[in-house]
Amino acid sequence: MTDNVVELRKATKLYAGVPAIKDVDLQLRRGEIHALVGENGAGKSTLTKALSGVVSLTSGQLFINGVEVSPRTPLEARQLGVAMVFQENSLVPTMTVAQNLFLGQEKFYNRLRGIYIAAQQFLQSLNFDVPPTATVGLLGAAKKQMVEIARAVLHQAKVIVFDEPTATLTPEEKAYFFDLVRDLKKRGVSIIFISHALEEALLLADRITVLRDGKHVVTDDAANFDRARIVQTMVGRDLSNTLYGKRKTTVRPSGERILSVQNLKMAPMVKNNSLSIFAGQITGVFGLVGAGRTETFKIVAGVLKRDFFYGGEVLLKGKPVRYRVPAPAVADGVAYITEDRKVEGFFETMSIARNVYLGLLSKFPRGRFLLSRREADQTGDDWISRLKVRAISPKAKVVELSGGNQQKVVIAKSLVQEPDLIIFDEPTRGVDVGAIVEIHDLINKLADDGKAVVVVSSYLPEILALSDRILVSRQGKVVEEFSALDATEEKIMYAAIH
Ligand SMILES: Nc1ncnc2c1ncn2[C@@H]1O[C@H](COP(=O)(O)OP(=O)(O)OP(=O)(O)O)[C@@H](O)[C@H]1O
Ligand SMILES: [Mg+2]
Repeated sequence: MTDNVVELRKATKLYAGVPAIKDVDLQLRRGEIHALVGENGAGKSTLTKALSGVVSLTSGQLFINGVEVSPRTPLEARQLGVAMVFQENSLVPTMTVAQNLFLGQEKFYNRLRGIYIAAQQFLQSLNFDVPPTATVGLLGAAKKQMVEIARAVLHQAKVIVFDEPTATLTPEEKAYFFDLVRDLKKRGVSIIFISHALEEALLLADRITVLRDGKHVVTDDAANFDRARIVQTMVGRDLSNTLYGKRKTTVRPSGERILSVQNLKMAPMVKNNSLSIFAGQITGVFGLVGAGRTETFKIVAGVLKRDFFYGGEVLLKGKPVRYRVPAPAVADGVAYITEDRKVEGFFETMSIARNVYLGLLSKFPRGRFLLSRREADQTGDDWISRLKVRAISPKAKVVELSGGNQQKVVIAKSLVQEPDLIIFDEPTRGVDVGAIVEIHDLINKLADDGKAVVVVSSYLPEILALSDRILVSRQGKVVEEFSALDATEEKIMYAAIH
């Protein structure tokens, strides 16, 4: 009857009476790669969750291969041939790769060994280099994703939805992932691909659909789009000049030396690392994944939970410190704003205001700063409007927010503590173009207010747009320093690789 594997007609999902998506029509063709783009909260995840049985539509119709269906669970959707690889992945971290792959099918294998052998053969057939006996929680982001993809292929999915699959991948892993998606396409699988990296959508997709405020704006061949047209349709206004590409003509001078790291060592990631961070400016820290940047700053902020061996010194305003947990670091004015919001970010079943308030409380561990419920809500609301957190209701629980808006809550929760040294680790990952502008404005304002700001980022345009000075990290230590005035992408990349 139709070449459309999936078709949505007038799809609507209400939360507490408010639409997350409204009257959306979408067709997914057989064997196409279809990118879904839109601002944080535009409804991308909701739409694809409706396809994959995670949520049910309030009204509207879903057709798979021309037949109207209404999957009520991810399992039902999988039986209809639709699999979803989630924004925050859905594997069981304490189980092995093989157990995750065959979850629910163990009864077909009389011994655990049978599962491992089957998994081994299957992973090899996909050319995936993942050990079937490895515990999933210990795998890196790319490998976890391979396991999710393998599981979808194993279940003979005809449609695979990827919700921000590349956000946590290194450039090499991304290239590999793109090959994989193209390979799935060759096998006749239809792909929906959600990403805030618009270049990726342009590069990978056959067609692109833009959502805005829960509504369908346009669907067209990728060849008919460029970055400017996507952004324009996403936000309904032209943002192109406010984004990256502008070069700094002045840099902020160094203020007081707030942090000094000397010969820091932590096997195997940090090797004799030394660096200084100054008040009143933004220091960008660039490096490829595995360059030891995150680990260095986690040691500084007391965030690394395990007691790895480490040597060397950390001086905060000239005073030696060695935090083993975050609380005393927070009390001394050090904030580490994490890249991994799911694991370390917040209490997701509490409201936004509560989360912000807990951030405030954790600075005063002995309850010296108890606010009334009303004051706490007020503080939360202030931050929600400052960071333009978009939620259906101000009482929304964090788990109900879209991914990018959750990231803003993580930031609010730390800034409410009024720290002097603020370390941002990949601050705009998963954040839409409009919100990136907002977060960058905020980071600039912190430096203007005299704070010492560190931005760890793997995204060079972000480093260049924000930094006054740039440290390049390679194999566990800082190897070069540039003033923003004479840094170029080429110079920084060269230092990061050679
Ligand atoms: N369980 C829920 N309860 C209430 N509101 C929700 C729930 N899930 C999503 N929403 C709201 O629906 C809207 C759409 O959210 P959705 O997660 O689909 O956005 P998104 O386009 O995926 O955004 P992002 O790019 O930030 O991931 C948002 O306003 C969000 O707050
Ligand atoms: Mg989303």
